[in-house]
Amino acid sequence: MKTFNEYLEMVNRAIKAIPYPAAPGNLYEPIAYTMALGGKRIRPVLVLMACEAVGGDADKAVDAAVGLELFHNFTLLHDDVMDNADVRRGQPTVHRRWNANVAILSGDTMLTMASQYMCRVAPEHLAAVNELFNTTAIEIYEGQQYDMDYERRREVSVDEYIKMIRLKTSVLLGCACKLGAIIGGADEQTAQSLYDFGVNLGLAFQLQDDVLDVWGDPATFGKEIGGDIMNNKKTYLMVNAFRLANEEQAGRLRRWYTDDYAMRQEKVPAVTRIYEELGLQEIADQAIGEYTQRALTVLESIEMNAEARESFKALAASLVKRDK
Ligand code: IPE
Ligand code: IPE
Ligand code: MG
Ligand code: MG
Ligand code: MG
Repeated sequence: MKTFNEYLEMVNRAIKAIPYPAAPGNLYEPIAYTMALGGKRIRPVLVLMACEAVGGDADKAVDAAVGLELFHNFTLLHDDVMDNADVRRGQPTVHRRWNANVAILSGDTMLTMASQYMCRVAPEHLAAVNELFNTTAIEIYEGQQYDMDYERRREVSVDEYIKMIRLKTSVLLGCACKLGAIIGGADEQTAQSLYDFGVNLGLAFQLQDDVLDVWGDPATFGKEIGGDIMNNKKTYLMVNAFRLANEEQAGRLRRWYTDDYAMRQEKVPAVTRIYEELGLQEIADQAIGEYTQRALTVLESIEMNAEARESFKALAASLVKRDK
């Protein structure tokens, strides 16, 4: 097993080597821009880690890892249009720096490039890899649609919320782990357990993203704080706010229920105050801990050497404490 940073270096080297045609610049420059801005690279690192944890050779999983990161970045280009987000990774989003049409088409191109990289996998794994990748992609689109639908729906239950984030975010972490396992030659049961580990980690990951969207430091988080509140997103915080608010607090929440971006100055701090009155940061932290624990319990059931297990545990621990 290598360290997280060694896997990260492998990923970054391969991403740097992605060739982009010179023209049309307005198609390829936004892709190069996005891929060069980095991000945490959690998903491709998980691919390589899972591959070696089951006894495979990480070099054989690099193309799939790059493919998955291209896919993830494609979802971000479209997500930032849908969420009206101005900043990502500390820089202007593609639809702000260029425009929405560019974000759509560069995103489409990244999706197809992702497929190309996936298809470079060894022929004996191609069918399984394609099936997993395509199924996961469609689940993510379903999750993204629920996320958008829920902006317009006041009553969303915690169960509906969990189902939504499982689709929009968690299955991609599960897919990363399972991809690595398949390419590493794992048996079906091990590959599935690694998938379940990734999904639970992914649930904790999206809960943490919801928390950081409210209480994060924009300089480290790299995104604008309060975007979810402005969009009336049914985050774990908003769903629980409606569930736990007393009549007076519910009245205040309802009053802030508007799409008016001119209200940003007042709306974000006012809704944050309600979250704080209700102790929602602690409630969310508890849920993050629970899903992380579920991931670790699954991990314990998987046969792998101690070093590999420790690497996954260290990754899970660092995600719980992350500030970006
Ligand atoms: C952002 O993913 C989208 C979510 C699922 C919350 P990341 O937080 O992994 O973004 P980067 O790739 O590190 O920028
Ligand atoms: C992430 O949801 C899900 C996908 C991009 C598929 P968010 O909308 O919360 O992600 P960020 O916060 O913009 O990164
Ligand atoms: Mg979104
Ligand atoms: Mg978003
Ligand atoms: Mg978010």
